[in-house]
Amino acid sequence: MTTRINPSILAADFANLEHELGRIATADLVHVDIMDNHFVPNLTFGLPMVERLQQVSPIPLDVHLMIDDPDRWAPGYAEAGAYSVTFHAEAAGEPVSLARRLREIGARAGIALKPGTDATPYLDLLPEFDQVLIMTVEPGFGGQAFIPETMPKLRRVADAVRSSGLDVWLQVDGGITADTIGIAAEAGADTFVAGSAVFGGEVPAERIASLRDAASA
Ligand code: DX5
Ligand code: ZN
Repeated sequence: MTTRINPSILAADFANLEHELGRIATADLVHVDIMDNHFVPNLTFGLPMVERLQQVSPIPLDVHLMIDDPDRWAPGYAEAGAYSVTFHAEAAGEPVSLARRLREIGARAGIALKPGTDATPYLDLLPEFDQVLIMTVEPGFGGQAFIPETMPKLRRVADAVRSSGLDVWLQVDGGITADTIGIAAEAGADTFVAGSAVFGGEVPAERIASLRDAASA
């Protein structure tokens, strides 16, 4: 099975991001958390930062928008060249037309679900998306503990993807460590976001390798 490890630069040194990208050269994608202090009670950075990262990153960008009104803002991230743009189901007005717009621009379209959000209404929309992000913590902060109660939802979405025959990636984000990644992999995830577990180590590339091993153990 394919395993993708996407380190989240939320846990990286913001003053040295280009250097930090060099320390995660073995990553599949770089996860970029955009927070607006409205959809979540925290603020990070926005489009100008992503435009600049896009210029210097040898690794494709996986943008996670934790913002209100993604219908208005998400296309700009796709236009900046992000490989994937994921917006929250809870915040989107017209998720289907937004996903179509993102794909038209050339990005993979992703939909994210907070821990308390039921997946049922979105299962019929799977053909419109390239990836589904099952949040395994409440969005807003790095370094929180993995919420195992989100696993039945992940299983349900994984079953729906399997029976549809679609190539939709299943991503988990929040509290992913060498101890929890196996649980999420077993429940059907193939794409793993990890912030503190990667950048908390002295050699992030070693952490990426351990996560990869633990996912397939
Ligand atoms: C949380 C963010 C995550 C965060 C994960 O709202 O979406 O991507 O960076 O951080 P860790 O891996 O430390 O839980
Ligand atoms: Zn994220």
